[in-house]
Amino acid sequence: MATRDTLLVSLTAPASFAAEQYQGLRLAVERLARARDVRTIAVSSPAAGDGKTVTAINLAGTLARGSDDRVLLVDADLRRPSVASLLAIPGGGLGLADALGSGRGAADVVRTVDGCLLDVIPAGSPRAGISEILRSPRLDAFLQELRQRYAYIVLDTPPLLPVFDAALIAKSVDGVLMVVSANRTPRKLLGEALNLLDASKVLGIVFNRDAHPLFGYYDAYCRQYFPGVSRIAGQA
Ligand SMILES: Nc1ncnc2c1ncn2[C@@H]1O[C@H](COP(=O)(O)OP(=O)(O)OP(=O)(O)O)[C@@H](O)[C@H]1O
Ligand SMILES: [Mg+2]
Repeated sequence: MATRDTLLVSLTAPASFAAEQYQGLRLAVERLARARDVRTIAVSSPAAGDGKTVTAINLAGTLARGSDDRVLLVDADLRRPSVASLLAIPGGGLGLADALGSGRGAADVVRTVDGCLLDVIPAGSPRAGISEILRSPRLDAFLQELRQRYAYIVLDTPPLLPVFDAALIAKSVDGVLMVVSANRTPRKLLGEALNLLDASKVLGIVFNRDAHPLFGYYDAYCRQYFPGVSRIAGQA
């Protein structure tokens, strides 16, 4: 565990203040699961580097901790995958791209991570074009199959604006958490990213790098355009 990124607090320092901030996100997600059976959740953001991967790993970690729920983390960023390296999972194995593109089954691609309560599907090696792979009906079928086995499936995705991968993935999940880099992501970009998604799929906004991770703050801009969207968590 010592080699894992120090930002992955849900795994490396579950008793810390930083890890506690993810508890709010966990509670919100658990509430959505109870109310609307939202259990497959894509984590995306408008631009590169907003904190999607850190958020996805911590969310999956916090959902798994102290619970009997089985949680799966999927690296669906097939262009620039980083989950495996951050979790120190040996590279080179099969992953999501192989399950979607080469018909590999879940048993071939799911890894367990030592010292974590999570199962992980790394990105794998795409053989065909990535948009083509993600447009395949196999994505829907594969996630439905996994949904039978796991209480929660968290998918790390690419940013929404430069490529359309995350918008394609969004069609096959129950909901999308939008990560924004607090005080950094321009509102215009957030608006454009939200416009790429079906509004009913947007579960909420996670303010990453937020110095004041409090509940109950509703971003006026988002409320105006997406009345169902609220800020649901933040992290320092
Ligand atoms: N809350 C935070 N505090 C400090 N640094 C952070 C925080 N969240 C993320 N970072 C750092 O910012 C960088 C980007 O984070 P991350 O990889 O999670 O972003 P991303 O949105 O997944 O990026 P990409 O679009 O490239 O996939 C990393 O170096 C990460 O360690
Ligand atoms: Mg990432």
